[in-house]
Amino acid sequence: MLVEENKQLSRDIFALELTGEFPYEKATSGQFVNLLIGDGKGHPLRRPLSIASCNPETKTLTLVYRVVGDGTKWLSERCPGDVLDVLGPLGRGFPAPQNPGTVLVVGGGVGVPPLYQLAKELGAAGFKLHIVLGFKNQDDVFWTREFAEFGDVVVCTEDGSLGKKGFVTEALNVNENWTTLYSCGPKPMLKALKAHFQGRDIKGYVSLEERMACGVGACWGCTCLDPDGSAAKRICKEGPVFSWEEVSL
Ligand SMILES: Cc1cc2nc3c(=O)[nH]c(=O)nc-3n(C[C@H](O)[C@H](O)[C@H](O)COP(=O)(O)OP(=O)(O)OC[C@H]3O[C@@H](n4cnc5c(N)ncnc54)[C@H](O)[C@@H]3O)c2cc1C
Ligand code: FES
Repeated sequence: MLVEENKQLSRDIFALELTGEFPYEKATSGQFVNLLIGDGKGHPLRRPLSIASCNPETKTLTLVYRVVGDGTKWLSERCPGDVLDVLGPLGRGFPAPQNPGTVLVVGGGVGVPPLYQLAKELGAAGFKLHIVLGFKNQDDVFWTREFAEFGDVVVCTEDGSLGKKGFVTEALNVNENWTTLYSCGPKPMLKALKAHFQGRDIKGYVSLEERMACGVGACWGCTCLDPDGSAAKRICKEGPVFSWEEVSL
């Protein structure tokens, strides 16, 4: 695919807009793509990034990533007109809510990007959304105005430098009538959310991350466990999105 734009959103977060050949119509929120870094010789393993936005009309695919190592550093140096080798869409995305009512969307850090495509899809389907986005501090914050097009947005930062101070769970009243919770972010956040709503009538989904090798279910290098710890599930194939009942957090 062709790089259209590679824009710095905050300290180390970039939004990469790609265009060109891609099965845009088939992609759904929560799925990911696997990117070849350079010619693949230095970094034989592709790097997985979630689909942050996919627009079949304009034929654009947007990925939002944090620079954490060599691969993402290389990506941050790509310029308009550069060509990238993109495999996808891969994995199983977010299912539609089973019940009507207000949907809760909770993202943390670079878990926020896939929830943008989800918010777009749920907004277009007429769902009311309450969106809570958590970041370490104000330097990490991105796309809060973009999310506000689709619902109420609450921003939390761990140090209180922007929005509410504290973790996302502190901004969530368990007595609200939310029917479905979609979440993506660090594992401790996903675990805390599940515990926070324990015993409540809410259907929960998490999008999990693990270091990946093949990205297509062949190597079993990205597994998590089912709730009783007896069977492995491949995050790239059976996930990355799972219901609370399907995995142990
Ligand atoms: C399904 C899926 C979707 C993802 N979506 C996004 C996204 O939308 N935006 C985004 O910024 N990142 C996302 N990631 C994480 C992203 O793939 C990694 O940050 C990236 O591969 C790092 O490559 P690198 O070469 O820059 O870093 P490396 O040099 O490979 O690693 C640098 C550091 O990052 C850590 N790291 C690398 N990969 C992961 C990982 N998967 N989980 C936790 N820590 C990791 C390493 O342990 C190391 O400390 C996703 C991962 C998965 C599995
Ligand atoms: S990365 Fe190979 S099975 Fe998931």
